[in-house]
Amino acid sequence: MNTKHWMILTAFPLSLLLGQGAAQAQKANEDPAPFKPGPNAMLVKETCSQCHTPNVVVTQTFTEESARKIYRKMMGESPDTERGVKIVNYLSTVQGEEQEGN
Ligand code: HEC
Repeated sequence: MNTKHWMILTAFPLSLLLGQGAAQAQKANEDPAPFKPGPNAMLVKETCSQCHTPNVVVTQTFTEESARKIYRKMMGESPDTERGVKIVNYLSTVQGEEQEGN
């Protein structure tokens, strides 16, 4: 009889955790605009809109080399960090020069 109560008590925090997971998944699906959608677009938006408008970034195109340079300059850390690799990859592909189509 008492076991039922315990099950309810232990199930409760679990459902809270699951609820938070769903909320986080939803956040990751937020609109990255004005950044073009692509892998890690939300990460780039969050990281690169902190000090200036996204326009500073989305009006430019990048090569891998220029993306690595700008990342080091802006973030003050190596572009070979986990975050750096993702952002450099986004900038040099989704916002890559060859995507300009001119
Ligand atoms: C800590 C604050 C800060 C963050 C975070 C930041 N920036 Fe900047 N950014 C600046 C400042 C300040 C300027 C203008 C001064 C300058 O040009 O050096 C700037 C200018 C720029 C420019 C135009 C000037 C240039 O050097 O070409 C680009 C492009 C840019 N940022 C890209 C990015 C990207 C991409 C990210 C995300 C990885 C980012 N920024 C994150 C502070 C920041």
